[in-house]
Amino acid sequence: MGGRPVAMPEQAVILVGGLGTRLRPLTYRTPKALLPVVNRPLISYELEWLRRAGVRQVLLAVGYQADILRGALGQGSAWGLDLAYVEEEEPLDTAGALKNCAARLHGRFWALNGDLIFDFDPAPMVRQHCQKGAVLSLTLRRVEDISPFGLILRDECGQVTGFLEKVSEDPTGQRTVNAGVYLMEPEALESVPPGRPWSNERNLFPGLVASGATVLGFLPETMPYWLDVGRLDTYLQANRDLLSGALPWVRAETAAGASLEPGARIIPPCSLAEGVIVRAGAQVGPFVSLGAGVEVGERARLRETVVLAGAKIGRQAQLSEVVIAPEEAVPPDYQQQGGVVFSG
Ligand code: GDD
Ligand code: MG
Repeated sequence: MGGRPVAMPEQAVILVGGLGTRLRPLTYRTPKALLPVVNRPLISYELEWLRRAGVRQVLLAVGYQADILRGALGQGSAWGLDLAYVEEEEPLDTAGALKNCAARLHGRFWALNGDLIFDFDPAPMVRQHCQKGAVLSLTLRRVEDISPFGLILRDECGQVTGFLEKVSEDPTGQRTVNAGVYLMEPEALESVPPGRPWSNERNLFPGLVASGATVLGFLPETMPYWLDVGRLDTYLQANRDLLSGALPWVRAETAAGASLEPGARIIPPCSLAEGVIVRAGAQVGPFVSLGAGVEVGERARLRETVVLAGAKIGRQAQLSEVVIAPEEAVPPDYQQQGGVVFSG
């Protein structure tokens, strides 16, 4: 296939219909895409990247918890983009979900797994994709542990030759995995059967390669940040990394409406949302995010912890590397290291 004119995509699809199983119990009431990272919904980092990449319209491929997502993110003009929702009656898996959006896609588009925080310059990838006439380009990332990801095999020209999803051995030694950020031409979806489950990783992508289509792997020269926030440990890691300045445009801040009683101590970096109260003698930080309306009782100690909106931490409680579910009441003197506090 020949080259195509180089043009940045104006549309994107974000896949947000998964069950968020590995982040249960937090995802029973809050969709994974809405879990706050440094007091902003996880998906807002992707929306911001897409906006900066010149995208105008984002289709959210939703199913499970669709109403909660729609209510929280809004539709029409929101986040500097035009947001629209395409709902699945039954989960259609990743490629089925993209196919479900096909009628609304007018040209080249980004497709994103919805649980990522990342940053890289999209222009060189778009250039390579267009110049080589690819129908699909996959962003790649080198990682230490390949087992939670899709290992991608490539030839010397960058053409993808194989997909090994969630394997522990890497026959190539390259450790290059699928970063979950795809650039697609609408014709990439032609072979996907409508209205039934079909997987990007197991059906569509290997099928395109087998059909002889140009499918490219693109390993960005620099990728300042990339994380799949699909598990509790990576959720806490995202909070730590972003508070540490991993994305230069994300700041650890204390909202004007947060209040600290005399003798309360904040050890930076921390993020305190509106309406937070930290009582006398409490010590918060480092790497703590407190959601809107959170109250930290007298002499409580919190480090590397995320407290979701409305939760109350009893006096002298000690928490480290913990996520506290929204509206929880943590009793006085309670101690926990690691895990989630969720009483249902
Ligand atoms: N709309 C819709 N419908 N979305 C879905 C469905 C569905 O039926 N099933 C899953 N999704 C969404 C999830 O909400 C998530 O945003 C995305 O698809 C990917 O699902 P995950 O469950 O997070 O996949 P993973 O992390 O195990 O693996 C994927 O991502 C890795 C990179 O982070 C694969 O693409 C791997 O190959 C890749 O390396
Ligand atoms: Mg994931």
